[in-house]
Amino acid sequence: MSRRKQIYEGKAKILYEGPEPGTLIQYFKDDATAFNAQKKATLQGKGVLNNRISEHIMIALGRIGIPTHFIKRVNMREQLIKKVDIVPLEVICRNVAAGSMSKRLGIDEGTQLPRAIVEFCYKKDELGDPLIAEEHVTAFGWATPQEVDEMVSYTLRINDFLQGMFFGIGIRLIDFKIEFGRHYDGDGVELLLADEISPDSCRLWDLETDKKLDKDRFRRDLGDVTEAYAEVATRLGILKDTQGSVTKLSVVKSED
Ligand code: TMP
Repeated sequence: MSRRKQIYEGKAKILYEGPEPGTLIQYFKDDATAFNAQKKATLQGKGVLNNRISEHIMIALGRIGIPTHFIKRVNMREQLIKKVDIVPLEVICRNVAAGSMSKRLGIDEGTQLPRAIVEFCYKKDELGDPLIAEEHVTAFGWATPQEVDEMVSYTLRINDFLQGMFFGIGIRLIDFKIEFGRHYDGDGVELLLADEISPDSCRLWDLETDKKLDKDRFRRDLGDVTEAYAEVATRLGILKDTQGSVTKLSVVKSED
């Protein structure tokens, strides 16, 4: 489809060489995987929705001073981003017990946590992204102590902002996963929020009904996955409405 050089293909996205040095194009696929890719599907329209939702969130976070890799969206499925070296960590922030934390600690899903909890997983598919301690991160040199502090501080600020943003549209932010990257610019290195923030990487429950509006609909075979993502996009003001099929996504032009 394109003659651009492919740099990397992940489970839900492809990275291509960007138009200028130090940039990449991030392409959002419709593919969904769960349980370390043991479960796979193609969900028509998911890539378009995640591209728009992640754009919306990255721009909003940029405005509150979180440095991100996002430069601009270039079309329905692609965005121009700054090239970074991904820190091999998944940084998870939890407000409410769910998923692997509920399983691991025997806490009922939906239990409010006493405060936001930040966890690190080592990003290694072969090992199933194991939960690790900060000690592992610094001892094995995956990030410096300063970078760990910076990541935790950004993560908590992102959590505060996103909790408020979602609360305003009737959604409870249960938890989310983010990734950071090192951006080399002239003489310095800067830590940037990278990857994506979308219903693929967050747990989002309707405030009134607890209806899941995220990838758990796919993981747990709850159905209507893209419809739920479209619902999130609609409430964020990205889609005009979700009437009818999500294949005829009527996307509102963003104001930036
Ligand atoms: P978990 O409860 O399965 O550990 O997931 C915590 C959060 O991280 C949840 O919002 C889903 C997200 N997540 C990802 O984005 N990618 C993954 O591979 C996994 C396992 C979870």
